[in-house]
Amino acid sequence: MLAVFASGNGSNFEALAGAGRSGALGGTIAALFSDRPDSRACECARALGIETVCPPVGRFRTRIEDERTWLDALHARRVGCVLLAGFMRRIHATLLDAFPERILNIHPSLLPAFPGLDAIARAFDHGARVTGCTVHLVDAGLDQGAIVAQAAIEVREGDTLEALEARMHEAEHALYPSAVRRFLTEPWRREGRRLVFESRAGEKHRA
Ligand code: GRF
Repeated sequence: MLAVFASGNGSNFEALAGAGRSGALGGTIAALFSDRPDSRACECARALGIETVCPPVGRFRTRIEDERTWLDALHARRVGCVLLAGFMRRIHATLLDAFPERILNIHPSLLPAFPGLDAIARAFDHGARVTGCTVHLVDAGLDQGAIVAQAAIEVREGDTLEALEARMHEAEHALYPSAVRRFLTEPWRREGRRLVFESRAGEKHRA
């Protein structure tokens, strides 16, 4: 069973849920977990008939104060893999230790460039000619875990930030479900920082 964590718009959650419905995700989404019960992501889950779970977050803005409440809710649903999709809190030891190499995230840049917030705008303002999105394992670092898949996006002459953002989200919605499927269904191993798939299918996702 899979759980998606989302805080905001939820377009990546929708893409994952759509792939789940059509059997293209390699797993079933048991629930959407959110720190924002009023978010569009939660509305989407309700509309799709996917359970919405909003455990307490505590006093802090950027982390969950007591991750054990979230962990208990994950265990109760037999979740084996967590997919972060615009979840605006850092994950810490309780969840990381319970799900070693089983928490994925999507980030809107070609990591290791532009980790952290506002990555699309920072790449655009920097004058990057190519940016993209990255699906990676979550570890204790900020957007630093092993890379599972990437897709490149060209920044065009005369591009606007809005146009680039739209292409970014389109690319994310294709990349994340396919990366999750590959991660869950194909054998892989770690070689240092590198996550190596045993089969060579899916090479197209590498930039
Ligand atoms: C996406 O750009 C994702 O890469 C980043 O947060 C954004 C979430 O968008 N981590 P949405 O809520 O899935 O629409």
